[in-house]
Formats: sequence, structure tokens, C-alpha cells
Amino acid sequence: MRIKGLVFFARICYLPCTVNAAAAPTHDSVVKRAGAAGGWKFAARIIVAISLLASGAFAQTTIPETDPPLRPIQNMFEPLSTPALKIHETSIPVLLICAAIFCVVTTLLVFIVWKFRQRNEEDRHVEPPQVYGSSHIELAWTVIPIIITVVLILITARTIGEIQNAKIPDDALRIRVIGHQWWWEVHYLKQNENGEWVTDFIAANEIHVPVGTREEPKMTHMILESSDVIHSFWVPQLAGKTDLVPNRKNELWIEPWATGTYLGNCAEYCGTQHAKMKIRVIVEEQDVYEAWAQNQRTPPPPPPANVALGHKLFMDYACANCHTVDGTIADGVFGPDLTKLMTRRTLGSGAVDNTPENLFKWVRDPQAADMKPGCLMPDMKMLDSEVREIVAYLETLK
Ligand code: CUA
Repeated sequence: MRIKGLVFFARICYLPCTVNAAAAPTHDSVVKRAGAAGGWKFAARIIVAISLLASGAFAQTTIPETDPPLRPIQNMFEPLSTPALKIHETSIPVLLICAAIFCVVTTLLVFIVWKFRQRNEEDRHVEPPQVYGSSHIELAWTVIPIIITVVLILITARTIGEIQNAKIPDDALRIRVIGHQWWWEVHYLKQNENGEWVTDFIAANEIHVPVGTREEPKMTHMILESSDVIHSFWVPQLAGKTDLVPNRKNELWIEPWATGTYLGNCAEYCGTQHAKMKIRVIVEEQDVYEAWAQNQRTPPPPPPANVALGHKLFMDYACANCHTVDGTIADGVFGPDLTKLMTRRTLGSGAVDNTPENLFKWVRDPQAADMKPGCLMPDMKMLDSEVREIVAYLETLK
């Protein structure tokens, strides 16, 4: 994996400007890209490559063809949602100002090192003229940085205000995301007769939302909470980072205008498996989303007779103490709700693809090196035959 990552890093830095092609570009981005300078793109690509390496985003790139296109590169320079676009528009002037400062300082430094180099033996013993209390110089290096800082503060504050004070439209989809070590609990909310927002259905790790357009955006509003330590929700193409802090409710919203399977990560170190706390946001057409939501809120039928043994084992072993399956006695809340397990593309919050083999390996021993060692689900030491029965039962949860 590491080697693959390095090869990819090299490719992303040195190939001609085609790297973003994987993430089906919008018309806008194509126009912008065509106009941008090569050097700028090169720098952007290096930043993207470094953040990819840092985020461990190389796993989990296979999805069925029926899903919206995978956007495997978490490219903050290609925003596809309103808050991400606002942040992008702020980042450009900030980067340009910082780049200008870098160029001026570096040029002056190189010039001075060259100009005042030691020319002959005599220079070794001569002290250069010392300048004390030059009010011109002192004013310059005090006032100019203050002005630059104020400009940066104003640009940033305006963007923060625009994002934080955005009004939630009546038709916004509202969800509640709760960070756990090391997975995401997702409550889709609905309004009850008293006007309170209550849970409609519960998902995990994969967040489906409807797509909008630039002209008619469709907001998804999220309330972010944590059940243990500080996590951070970051899907770079959709919005900025927001922390999930215990005993606090933070807010985040997105307004994506391109369908796709967007990848994100927990962006705050939160323990052993922080790296395997991935987020998938599946942005899809309204009707596809509705169908998905309708299925999520439909309780599963009673287990068919051929998986009765697996169902019994699931309830008899400790599985049912940590996981919920609607319509059964399993009502644990320490682990992800499994009612619709088979509608998810990954297991363990993006640790591995949700395939029958991986599901078997996961149930047999989630602590195995190729699963998620350190995760809070223990190895239950079950017989392979028992695991097979339980997996057969789990495969009916869809
Ligand atoms: Cu959760 Cu890092």
C-alpha cells in the first residue's frame, strides 16, 4: 500500500495536467483549468498529493457501476458545493498574498547573502556598519505586516460569516452526525407534530444526500456531536472541516451541485484507528435519494428460515448488545446500526469493501491485521461454522 501510495504520489506530481480527470469535471472547472497557469496547477497537485498521502485515502476505491461516480481525489481546489466554493475563493487571495510575501522575503534574503558575502581575507575582521533605531525601517516592518494581517482577517472573517450565518431553508435535509471511535453514526431527522426534530432513521458511515444545482441549491444541514473524543468531519470537495466536540453541537451544511461518491476523513487525531474513520457522502438525484431513504426506514422482514440459526447466534452472542437491528431484540448502541448493513459499500467506516469474504473475515476477527486492529469490536472467538451462519443472516439485512 505504501509503495502504491508513493507511486501514485509521483504520478500525481509529474504527469501532464490530467489528474483531475478522474473526478468528472464540471464545465466551470474545465474552463478555469484551461485558463490557469501550469505552475499553479503543479503546486496545487503537490498539495493534493501530500494531503492524500497524509490521509491514507488510497484504500477503498471500488464501487458498483450503479453508484454515482467515485471522486477519489479529495481535491479542495475543485469545490463542488457552496461552502467549499466560498472557502476555495478565499483560499486563492490568501495563497497569493502569502506567496508574494514568500517571494519578497526569499529574494531579499538571497540578494543580501550574495551582496554582503565575504570577498577577501580582510572582510573576516571587519564588522559591517550597524544600524540602530531607524524609524523608517521599523515603521515599514511594523505597519506593512499589520496591513497585510488586517486584509487577511477581513477576507477570512467575511467567508466565515457567510458560511456560519447561512439561513437553513425549509426544504433542507437535516441530519445529525455523531462521531465515535472510529465510525460515524448518522441520524436522518424529521419534524414531529410538536415541531421538534426527531430521528427518522439511522445510518452509519455513508451519508446519502440529494443533489441540487448552482441556481437551485439543495441544502443538507448537519448537527455534529461526539460520543467520546474530538473528531473532525472533512469532505474537502463539499465543505470545510468542522470538529465534533463532546457535549457540544456544531453545525455544518453542504449544497452539492454534482452527483458523486465523495470521500472524506476524520481530520482530528482521535486514537488508534483515526485513519480508518472514513466518510462517504453519496450525492445522488432526488428520486434515487428518496428511494434509498424509503428503504432505510422500512423495517426488515422477519429472518427467512434458512438463516434462523445465524439470527439466533447473532442474538445469543454479544452482537445484539452493541448493534441494533430494527424489529429484533438487538438494540445495542455502541456499534453501528446494522438494520440495512448490506446497503453499505464498506465495513468498519471504510476499512474494507463490504464483500461476502470481508464480512466473514470481519465477523470472525475484526482485530485481524487486514481489518481494523484496535477497533472496539472484540474477536468473539467463534467457530468458522458459526461465523458463516451469522454472515448468512447479516446478508439478509438490506
Ligand atoms: Cu475520529 Cu480522528
